[in-house]
Amino acid sequence: MGFPEVRMRRLRTSNNMRRLVRGNSLSIDNLVYPLFVRPGENIKEPIASMTDCFHFSPDTIVSEAADVAALGIPAVLLFGLPSRRDEIGSEAWEEEGAVQQAIRGIKKTVPELLVITDVCLCAYTQSGHCGVVKGGKVDNDATCELLGKVALSHARAGADILAPSDMMDGRVGYIRQTLEENCFHETAIMSYSVKYASAFYGPFREMADSAPAFGDRRSYQMDVANSNQAMIEIEQDIAEGADIVMVKPALCFLDIIARAKERFHCPIAAYNVSGEYMMLNAAAEAGFLEKEAAMMEALYSIKRAGADIIITYFAKEAAKLL
Ligand code: PBG
Repeated sequence: MGFPEVRMRRLRTSNNMRRLVRGNSLSIDNLVYPLFVRPGENIKEPIASMTDCFHFSPDTIVSEAADVAALGIPAVLLFGLPSRRDEIGSEAWEEEGAVQQAIRGIKKTVPELLVITDVCLCAYTQSGHCGVVKGGKVDNDATCELLGKVALSHARAGADILAPSDMMDGRVGYIRQTLEENCFHETAIMSYSVKYASAFYGPFREMADSAPAFGDRRSYQMDVANSNQAMIEIEQDIAEGADIVMVKPALCFLDIIARAKERFHCPIAAYNVSGEYMMLNAAAEAGFLEKEAAMMEALYSIKRAGADIIITYFAKEAAKLL
């Protein structure tokens, strides 16, 4: 059977007809909004490399979080910056660190809003690497121990979900064990399981001043040409106790999201990263794209590929349209 019995246009004749047969839906329920916190007071400073994004201090981030919750967005993802850096990134697990204060403030004022925290060292180490450098290399097992401390300090402050983004082997298991030993049985882990050594982190690194001081991240983040390794990474993280797994970035890796969705049964998150966000913003600003339509198309593509959760700097704008 073919044309004219089959006319695909019949189901596209009106908005309601298109709604009726729409195969995928995007909902505010699926969105996570990233926020940046640094030490200080009364700070709300625009981030030059990322349109409409700000640095907050632990006091001002609370009202921003309340705004996010009022839009119906279920979760924020917190990134921290330190007042000083050292070799091991020790400010990352300080009880009075900016992130720890922000978690406590948000959970006190907007308790229903889920707080997810980025667990990593790259903004806190002098080297700008995601782990401790020993003999010119990022030391895997020593880093896992420090990440355990960071994770525990976030859990103690009240974080709902911990999101390790360092790509060390075994860190999910290490963090899970640390949480169990300290009776944080309900703290979830959303692992950045598949994090590629991508060129699309540029605006974020400029914002966090977290570009590595020497070398690059290719000895721990995945080679962009690989697909099978991504499946092994996810398998390992689930076995080690991850509750949610993530693919990052999103738009150049929709095939990986789709493969992961087919193969695994836990929730899949995708991170629509800073470079993807700014690519679209810059094109819209130059008049090449209609921003809202392009934004929704990009978010739909991530959902259609199979992501259950989308972490995006567009979350607030998208929420207003949904
Ligand atoms: C570092 C980290 C990065 C991002 C989140 N966590 C950058 C990197 O790996 O260099 C990037 C997020 C974005 O670009 O939006 N652990």
